[in-house]
Amino acid sequence: MTETLCFRNIGELIQADATSQPDVRVRTNCALLVTGGRVDKILRESEVKPANRYTRVIDVKGRAVVPGFVDCHTHLVYGGERKDEMVDRVSGVSYLEILNKGGGIHDTVKATRQATEATLYDQAKRRMKRMMALGTTAFEIKSGYGLDLETETKMLKVGKRLRQALKVPVTLTYLGAHAIPRPMKRTQYVEFVLENLPKFRGLADGVDIFCEKNVFTVADLRLVFLQAKLLGFDLRAHVEELSHQGGSYEAARLGALSCDHLEYATPKDIQAMHAAGTVAVLMPGVTLFLGGTKQPLVHSMLDAGVTLALATDCNPGSCPTYNMQTVIYLAANMYRITPGQALAAATYGAAKALGHHREYGGLLPGQRADFNILKTGDHRDLVYYFGENFIDQTFVAGRRVKG
Ligand code: NIG
Ligand code: FE
Repeated sequence: MTETLCFRNIGELIQADATSQPDVRVRTNCALLVTGGRVDKILRESEVKPANRYTRVIDVKGRAVVPGFVDCHTHLVYGGERKDEMVDRVSGVSYLEILNKGGGIHDTVKATRQATEATLYDQAKRRMKRMMALGTTAFEIKSGYGLDLETETKMLKVGKRLRQALKVPVTLTYLGAHAIPRPMKRTQYVEFVLENLPKFRGLADGVDIFCEKNVFTVADLRLVFLQAKLLGFDLRAHVEELSHQGGSYEAARLGALSCDHLEYATPKDIQAMHAAGTVAVLMPGVTLFLGGTKQPLVHSMLDAGVTLALATDCNPGSCPTYNMQTVIYLAANMYRITPGQALAAATYGAAKALGHHREYGGLLPGQRADFNILKTGDHRDLVYYFGENFIDQTFVAGRRVKG
């Protein structure tokens, strides 16, 4: 017989979907029924039946239940660290100067090429477990630290094994166009990426490109995306992060699921994203860590009706964090958005950026029962007290993974 779990005495149950956008829906004094790993029903507390009618009753004691966080942009499979570079940056050298001199991403490429698949797997698994202990229940993982066929494949294989081992949703993205491997010329490397795209079918779900000054151009993005689209890949892009290049406009016009970073995106780019239903993935941790002062036009995005998503960007160069709670906190306080808007972006919005908002991210009947029980009864604490870990228990497909 299928098990039914009853989570009762929920102080606040947070749901998020298209109709609650850009906010969440807050339900009070209710109970959540989980059957076969999926959300079955939400009941009023007064409708809960005697305990023997359920497989198990869990008393939530007035705490808040929120959808599991969806980290929709990470580079969590990598070798090495970049602490020296961090010290250089705080002393005034810019991220792009370091990259253009052959450091930055190139240092991680060296370390990732050298690492065995087993080492990369063990390290990334440890990172994911720490992320799950902080409330993340679905992930996106990019390649992009190989820039050759062998290492890019090795990274994506690690991602696939992590999905199987940790039994959480993992979306994989081929980010061949992350940097130009020396001594290749840009055009030569773009040719290489285009030629090899078919080899990543079945391994990656999507394709990404870093469109930036002295990295890849809007024309490169167009070439890569047209080919990727023909091959059936989802499209996502690192765009307008450190300068305005117009990649977000082009990516939206080509039907990208998400445009990520967007610090320099203009109202015209935002309109194109709205018209295409492209999600804006914002990563305030990157702005903080790189010491940037430019922030995305978040309120123009909200006014235009663009869906917002949040992500860590977890990587050794521009945002070494595992913590979606920190990101939610930073988003509300840096962008001046409400706790509900930040939480909706970290759940529903992020799931939509991956094309999976029907399957998870909203705690709606029929969806995967991926959720967190907070230590508090008020979800606003997530953006109020900083530096706390508010996760009491985490459930993935109705199975307790923490607490
Ligand atoms: O999303 N902007 C480019 N790529 C990553 C950083 C990668 C790195 O520095 O290792 C980003 O910020
Ligand atoms: Fe990134």
